[in-house]
Amino acid sequence: MKKIKIALLGIGTVGGGVWDILHMNKDEIVGNCGYEIEVGKILVRDVNKKRHDGIPKELFTSNYEDILQDEAIEIVVEVMGGIEPAKDYILRAIKNEKHVVTANKALLANHGCEILTEAKKQGVHVYYEASVAGGIPIINTIKESLAGNKFKKIMGILNGTTNYILTKMTKQKVDFDTVLKEAQEKGYAEADPTADIEGYDAAHKLTILASLAFGKQVEFQQVYREGVTEIKPIDIQYAAELGYVIKLLGIAKEKEGVIELRVHPTFVPESHPLASVHDSFNAVFVKGNAVDDLMFYGRGAGDLPTGSAVVGDIIAIIKGRENIQIEEKQLFPQDNKRIMPMGDTESEYYVRLTVKDRPGVLGKIASLFGKHNVSLASVIQKGEGDPSVSLVFITHYTVEARVQRALEEINTMEEVVELGNLIRVENGEKEMGA
Ligand code: NAP
Ligand code: HSE
Repeated sequence: MKKIKIALLGIGTVGGGVWDILHMNKDEIVGNCGYEIEVGKILVRDVNKKRHDGIPKELFTSNYEDILQDEAIEIVVEVMGGIEPAKDYILRAIKNEKHVVTANKALLANHGCEILTEAKKQGVHVYYEASVAGGIPIINTIKESLAGNKFKKIMGILNGTTNYILTKMTKQKVDFDTVLKEAQEKGYAEADPTADIEGYDAAHKLTILASLAFGKQVEFQQVYREGVTEIKPIDIQYAAELGYVIKLLGIAKEKEGVIELRVHPTFVPESHPLASVHDSFNAVFVKGNAVDDLMFYGRGAGDLPTGSAVVGDIIAIIKGRENIQIEEKQLFPQDNKRIMPMGDTESEYYVRLTVKDRPGVLGKIASLFGKHNVSLASVIQKGEGDPSVSLVFITHYTVEARVQRALEEINTMEEVVELGNLIRVENGEKEMGA
């Protein structure tokens, strides 16, 4: 049996999943690529730490040179995470003419261009299917199967941890901290879960997807980002009352050369397919000008689902490594598309205010919305005779800057105790004036 040697940089959740798949699906893998994939070395920080069962001790090293200088190792699989030393290790692997597979979206969103340019120079492959939406094969689908399309929109639930949190908060009324701990125990969360709950992880993934789909070097910093930490149980209750569920969405649209990029909690109608994507599952909607609407659904995090994407990349490299001249669709090409300022984006909006319960307050607020050209679709007032009550508005489709300007003025009203929350509502393709 022909063998090919790889090295794993890291053997945590994803590395462990890769190890298990290579062993449990050995025959299928040999059948698919004609080679047995052998893990030659595993890089860790501490070689004495107790880890994944059944791994021979002699495979572990804490010295990257052992991997770099081993000519038998053809593919380096980076599943350790973080920017450094992961970036340095990948660039050195490329220089030593080793192919690379990585699941590291933070690294690609910030340094993808540099890494892929180096790989092209050296004539090696860098594959990164696991970096977006775990087990869902969305990267290859955009690069290969949908290569005949011009993309108009990509929208999805791109973070498993926050989808798990929002699902549990909605269905079981579990509090945020308890459910975050559960997500960490299940291996969904990043080493620093701030990346998940503040929307950075979803923004990294949106950067990668948008760069590929729109052929534009999107800077991660250009993505508007809000996380889920400001979502209160009362917002989830109001959403349900109004026929919505709250999801953290990544949204990228292209219109006349201008790109809109945003990650934020969103009201999604209960009837929308994204509303029934629960737990750690992810879903990605793609609209191509030829294929029209597609939706991809699957596990967005976890050992085996993510390991599946990594192993798929290893097999793709094995099959394609002799054919390196074939130009891969370049991630982050140079182009001159403009990024739309957040204030120019359009949506419907949910606005929750706490106000003093006095006659005329509702009318005053409604007329301030009107003054800024924001038309209201519905209003809910809860409580009566209390010192302060909740007022909830859903606006019609409008421009974000108008809502922000109206809220600035509303917030100066003596009767307004607190601006509770503003959440965008995704109600399909309602364009203004349509
Ligand atoms: P993890 O469970 O924390 O495992 C990280 C592994 O990398 C550990 O074995 C750790 O070794 C090793 N490591 C970290 N820094 C190192 C260093 N400087 N030198 C040597 N070894 C080092 O992480 P994970 O959840 O598997 O995630 C790995 C990557 O996959 C990240 O980029 C993440 O964003 C991405 N990803 C994760 C998921 C998921 O569901 N978890 C899904 C998609 C993508 P020690 O144990 O010795 O510290
Ligand atoms: N922390 C990430 C998530 C892992 O929760 O989606 C998968 O990329």
